[in-house]
Amino acid sequence: MASESGKLWGGRFVGAVDPVMEKFNSSIAYDRALWEVDVQGSKAYSRGLQKAGLLTREEMDQILHALDKVAEEWAQGTFKVNPSDEDIHTANERRLKELIGETAGKLHTGRSRNDQVVTDLRLWMRQDCSRLSALLWELIRTMVDRAEAVYTPAKGSAHSLEPLDSEVRGWAIVQGYPDSVHASGGPDLLPLALSHAVALTRDSERLLEVQKRINVLPLGSGAIAGNPLGVDRELLQAELNFGAITLNSMDATSERDFVAEFLFWASLCMTHLSRMAEDLILYGTKEFSFVQLSDAYSTGSSLMPQKKNPDSLELIRSKAGRVFGRCAGLLMTLKGLPSTYNKDLQEDKEAVFEVSDTMSAVLQVATGVISTLQIHRENMARALSPDMLATDLAYYLVRKGMPFRQAHEASGRAVFLAETKGVALNQLSLKELQTISPLFSGDVSRVWDYGHSVEQYTTLGGTARSSVDWQIGQMPVLWLTLKNTSDSPKYPGLP
Ligand code: ARG
Repeated sequence: MASESGKLWGGRFVGAVDPVMEKFNSSIAYDRALWEVDVQGSKAYSRGLQKAGLLTREEMDQILHALDKVAEEWAQGTFKVNPSDEDIHTANERRLKELIGETAGKLHTGRSRNDQVVTDLRLWMRQDCSRLSALLWELIRTMVDRAEAVYTPAKGSAHSLEPLDSEVRGWAIVQGYPDSVHASGGPDLLPLALSHAVALTRDSERLLEVQKRINVLPLGSGAIAGNPLGVDRELLQAELNFGAITLNSMDATSERDFVAEFLFWASLCMTHLSRMAEDLILYGTKEFSFVQLSDAYSTGSSLMPQKKNPDSLELIRSKAGRVFGRCAGLLMTLKGLPSTYNKDLQEDKEAVFEVSDTMSAVLQVATGVISTLQIHRENMARALSPDMLATDLAYYLVRKGMPFRQAHEASGRAVFLAETKGVALNQLSLKELQTISPLFSGDVSRVWDYGHSVEQYTTLGGTARSSVDWQIGQMPVLWLTLKNTSDSPKYPGLP
């Protein structure tokens, strides 16, 4: 029976808790988010108690019915939290007792909040990860669709998917900037967009892995040692549809590996999104003008009327810091803990909830940004410069039989010659090129075609249209493989 103080643990205590301490200890302000899974876990547990002979069928039915009522009150917003409700478990049990009296006191038989809270958290996260996974795929799909659309003019157009027409192709070629320097053999827009999407597919894969380790049942571990009253954990597993049962009760109540893994998943995903945001911010500057953010995802300046700020992207970039902080914070909390449950672990939930909210918002905003982004292909084409073709010039000589080191040197000399003469690389005459190597002949003019440059990277993973088609083709394959190897629910509308 709960003590006069309304505490679940009041029997041993005579003195009152300091009010500041009471507030300090309380987690109801945030763990109320677990109300639904807490009820779900309790319903499963009461079935376990009935099977173990610790509840009669009538008592179980009474508890199940009252728990449904508790859930209904939460759902309708009529559940009244008392100041003495320390956490969601205390609140729900207190209410259960108000509804059915002393029978409510049987529900916690052999259970501890230590196994209860971690069961709740796993149930909550399992569901939440499915939601985040769907949002992530929505973003990936939007990125691939948008990138592909650049290459797929309206139906009936003569140019549809003609890969080698360099004039059409040239429209969509964007310079690559490794080390923030114009790259040689620049990739084009589609591979650039895909490079971000591909990183996100790894995040998707990682999330499913994390989900697998979240989906393990700790209930029945008690406070530390397991359950001495014969509660059948396999029944609990089936009731709550967990993929596996935790192996060790002391570990189960105290480990938060799955939380750390989730926070790390989010951190890495945010790293990718932050890098993408940085690319888009840079390419959206007046100096580049490769892309333009829609008004829906920009804001103005209170002082400078001309400014349109990429706030959505800046905030995506900044949220990475918040998420990393939560990940590092939890690891700090975990590292010094002695074995078994410690109250320090109460800190896990705020980290999970905050990161989940952040990821959810970031993924949706990123999808919105990408789906409404204007792409100025003409500015990308204008930014191309012949010096990016210097590597191609070296490859030209390689194709004529020159060893690459020599070809690199020869091409470097051509760049130097052009610079000294104050002309673009492609303005050097054949005669001038031949002073560098006799292997240059009339067909060198082909090197100065940007479309041709991009198209020569035909290996799997390269920038040629055939390679890019292969990459896009892998996306649904990847998705299907992931889907088939996980227990996660199917998402309508995904590839
Ligand atoms: N509110 C607590 C938490 O979130 C529940 C577990 C309490 N257990 C304990 N031994 N104090 O972790």
